[in-house]
Amino acid sequence: MAEYQRHEHDVLVIGAGGAGLRAAIESAHSGASVGLICKSLLGKAHTVMAEGGIAAALANVDDRDNWEVHFADTMRGGQYLNNWRMAEIHAKEAPDRVKELEALGAVFDRTADGRILQRNFGGHKYPRLAHVGDRTGLEIIRTLQDHAVHQPIDVHMECTIVSLLKDGNRISGALGYDRERGRFKLFEAKAVVLATGGIGRAFSVTSNSWEYTGDGQALAYNAGASLQDMEFVQFHPTGMVWPPSVRGILVTEGVRGEGGILVNKEGRRFMFDDIPENYRGQTADNEEEGWRYTQGDKNARRPPELLTRDHVARAIMKEVREGRGSPHGGVFLDISWISSKLSNAEEHIKKKLPSMYHQFKQLADIDITKEPMEVGPTTHYVMGGIRVDGDTQMSSVPGLFAAGEVGAGLHGANRLGGNSLSDLLVFGMRAGKYAAEFAARQSSAKVDTQQADAIVRVALEPFDRAGGGEGPYQVEHDLQTMMQELVGIVRREGEIRRALDALKTLKERARKVSVTGNREYNPGWHTALDLQNLLTVSEIVARAALERKESRGGHFRDDFPEKDPSYGKFNIVIRRGANGEMQVTREPIPEMREDLKKIVEENK
Ligand code: FUM
Repeated sequence: MAEYQRHEHDVLVIGAGGAGLRAAIESAHSGASVGLICKSLLGKAHTVMAEGGIAAALANVDDRDNWEVHFADTMRGGQYLNNWRMAEIHAKEAPDRVKELEALGAVFDRTADGRILQRNFGGHKYPRLAHVGDRTGLEIIRTLQDHAVHQPIDVHMECTIVSLLKDGNRISGALGYDRERGRFKLFEAKAVVLATGGIGRAFSVTSNSWEYTGDGQALAYNAGASLQDMEFVQFHPTGMVWPPSVRGILVTEGVRGEGGILVNKEGRRFMFDDIPENYRGQTADNEEEGWRYTQGDKNARRPPELLTRDHVARAIMKEVREGRGSPHGGVFLDISWISSKLSNAEEHIKKKLPSMYHQFKQLADIDITKEPMEVGPTTHYVMGGIRVDGDTQMSSVPGLFAAGEVGAGLHGANRLGGNSLSDLLVFGMRAGKYAAEFAARQSSAKVDTQQADAIVRVALEPFDRAGGGEGPYQVEHDLQTMMQELVGIVRREGEIRRALDALKTLKERARKVSVTGNREYNPGWHTALDLQNLLTVSEIVARAALERKESRGGHFRDDFPEKDPSYGKFNIVIRRGANGEMQVTREPIPEMREDLKKIVEENK
């Protein structure tokens, strides 16, 4: 029998980004005993990569904004595959969550009359993103963390969860290990909230850091929960492309919100070339009007750079593929041009985009106040995830909740920028609340140590093969390259099938990887374990992408380049079958309530 450090909590929150912190705070406020697991150190989270702002219809900059317009924008951005109940809750509750954050000490940028300032972002009809320069996610994490450390929350840092535990059908806890010493930890819990973020590390070009290996999606899938919409991966249009060591690092959409334009190597603003049907009336058709929009002219239409991310990313890829890209395989993003419009442009850029200024100066030796940046799409976010009840965030496994990026529903086929930060506050709060309520109704769950022992045996197998097999890094690298090439921004049936074949081989190789040394400070071992999750989520993405024979939002099929209305009626759902096989089904989207339908119609 393995030795464990044992911990008992009413609610165990796995993941300590914005959603996890908000859930933990809410559960603690509800009186539950709470454990909070961070894969790395507290405060290090992908939430900080939502730089440009948090979307909430505060109407501080444009009084025409309200929850109904935000709801309609979110649904249109998601191409109507969204869980409309979540989109409704999100639009209604986001303003309160932002004000609450302000009350907790978040230092937002201000309007001239002292209210929270809001900026333009893609797909949002009005300036809606409350922001802190281009460090909004960072400020949110700082604020939540400051608050959380004063709550009765036990924080378990540098801890990776390898499996959820169940007592019959119901969740009973989780098994993990501390990454420093490699000691196993057994968490008994009446409810578990997954808030582990995304899957970006399944691809080779990504804004996600090393933690984002699809852990929560894979843990939930292995525990019997359903996943939906996993074909919808968001490639943020603007990541750094040069130098190679920083490829993929995010360049905030806030640059375009502040007037940044995209040009190809001929100096042409190619985003004017193709305006999608459903945004035609709202999009400027000349440079002057687009500029006036960014300066707050309420009668002007938005510049084409502020179309939704799926569209902008594909437009950039087209320029690159057709030979009009920048020297390093991207296009140019230029904010320096505003010096022809503003006398204090340099000061303005440094004030509004301080991190971008430093990022490019230090990493690429580019002064963005004087020169354009080179940018290209980077894997940023997954719209799909664990299928949850829209109100409570509970998954199909009793006692298992999900919030933030790991959950699915709010964003449908494509997420609007800034909606992730509001998502994680609104649904982090709800998940924490309902998990605490669920826990209060349960007797202690029974943890089966035999189940735990079996998981430990499998987790330690890479040591048994020490020196006798391939190392995990090469397999991980090959997986990322393969996913980027075959299941990336542009997909085709033949390539997805090749990806599925490649995944079989990669799984075989992963089963045989070996690591040397011991369990203490052993990154090779960590990678061997992460690899299992990466393989699971990659297969789910590929199977869902194969099933959706149309193009919509973040999923573009070159062999089916149009949207097919018959595919707008269901979500693709994947769960584990009784024999361990992946089952792919189509689940109808419930009919939208009449009052919400009316809002959508009125805002078309
Ligand atoms: O571009 C950005 O600042 C990212 C925001 C987001 O993903 O919500």
